[in-house]
Amino acid sequence: MSSPSDADPEIAPTEVDRSSSKLFEPARLGPLTLRNRVIKAATFEGMSPDGVVTDDLIAFHTRVAAGGAAMSTVAYLSIAPEGRTDSGCILVVPDAVEGLRRLTDAIHARGAFAQAQVGHAGPVANASSNKARSLAPRRMFNPLGMRFAKAANEHDITRVTSDYERGAKLCVEAGFDSLEIHIGHNYLLSSFLSPKLNRRTDRWGGSIENRARFARQVVTAVRSAVGGDVAVTAKLNMVDGYRGGLTIEDSLQVAAMLEADGALDALELTAGSSLANPMYLFKGAAPTAEFRATLPWYLRGGFRLVGGKLLHTYPYQEAYFLDQAARFRESLDMPLVLLGGISELATAERGLAAGFDFIAMARAILHHPDIVNEWAHGTGTISGCIHCNRCMPTIYTGTRCPLVDPHPGDRPIPSPPWAANRPASRPANL
Ligand SMILES: Cc1cc2nc3c(=O)[nH]c(=O)nc-3n(C[C@H](O)[C@H](O)[C@H](O)COP(=O)(O)O)c2cc1C
Ligand code: SF4
Repeated sequence: MSSPSDADPEIAPTEVDRSSSKLFEPARLGPLTLRNRVIKAATFEGMSPDGVVTDDLIAFHTRVAAGGAAMSTVAYLSIAPEGRTDSGCILVVPDAVEGLRRLTDAIHARGAFAQAQVGHAGPVANASSNKARSLAPRRMFNPLGMRFAKAANEHDITRVTSDYERGAKLCVEAGFDSLEIHIGHNYLLSSFLSPKLNRRTDRWGGSIENRARFARQVVTAVRSAVGGDVAVTAKLNMVDGYRGGLTIEDSLQVAAMLEADGALDALELTAGSSLANPMYLFKGAAPTAEFRATLPWYLRGGFRLVGGKLLHTYPYQEAYFLDQAARFRESLDMPLVLLGGISELATAERGLAAGFDFIAMARAILHHPDIVNEWAHGTGTISGCIHCNRCMPTIYTGTRCPLVDPHPGDRPIPSPPWAANRPASRPANL
């Protein structure tokens, strides 16, 4: 397989027969019919400094929708004040609906669906920025906020579940077509799955049934709250990627329980921990210097000492989660979304050939928003993303690929001939 660095995406020949490709055919996701099988995965946009939708955020998703993806995921929308990663994260409250409606209208106008990633950051939240104490399965220290997270009690778990229901309904009111519940990366629901983070002895800890109870409760509650007219998906960790974390055997059981509950239209499979092993999510190079520059001064010295360990690296290869995800494909019937290291047309096709219903792409689209149209029109086969991960720290200044957008807002919205403007309404649901 060619590497992104040795081929020009504009002239690279395609190895795929598009006439027989399922990638560009409409496909059903619950009640929706997507125009193709490519979903733009969540990349926290860092374009809501006051926690509200901005024109930059709308331009970001307009560019993704115009580039051909069937659905753009807005990341991430917090359902509770203490569940924001920091105070620049959008909180789903009634006042946010008008701005979110402008955002979903803009995505629909370019023929794509809008998916809201709804979540609660739990122990990943920066409590000092949020000015609200974060929640975790047990009391634990978060160095980013320099605060201890509180061990969630029964009341907190009930309240967060209602927050998910209320937030999900508001997202639907704002025009979102699909909701993606975050059960990955050691955010709150995922932290309950981790035996290392969850050492509870009550009905929320211990066995995998108990550790999965919170996530299942939320998924079922969200589905009941929004009904069947919108899609509900979840982004689930397959493994946490550190000793003592969630194992693939446990995650397979969680996935089987979620499938049996029948509340989800699809599962997107991820891995890694924003707390303990972030590079497991991404593979490729660690942007250590760029990350250190984003930290408050009092953490930079400590990061210099432990940064190499925290940002432990893994070699990049295309479809790096495929082998793990294939075990989920073998044991489940429900629709699955393959994620992780898809930046070439041939890789996307490999994912579909392995039985996945959709493929999700984050960095490849960040670098090259038009890539899906180029695949479909035969004008390109690879994104050109080199997996350097320098986009990761840009979440603090406006998420972008700094290789092509050195400064926030540099790149105008493209208008290739095939990205015709559509009326501002939901795409037809066939
Ligand atoms: C800048 C950036 C921000 C991200 N923000 C989120 C996020 O808010 N929520 C989430 O679930 N994943 C987030 N991710 C992870 C991606 O959704 C995806 O899981 C990961 O990048 C691997 O997919 P890829 O190889 O297609 O990039 C982010 C990734 C990047 C590069
Ligand atoms: S910075 Fe750009 S090239 Fe590097 S991984 Fe991110 S999107 Fe890809």
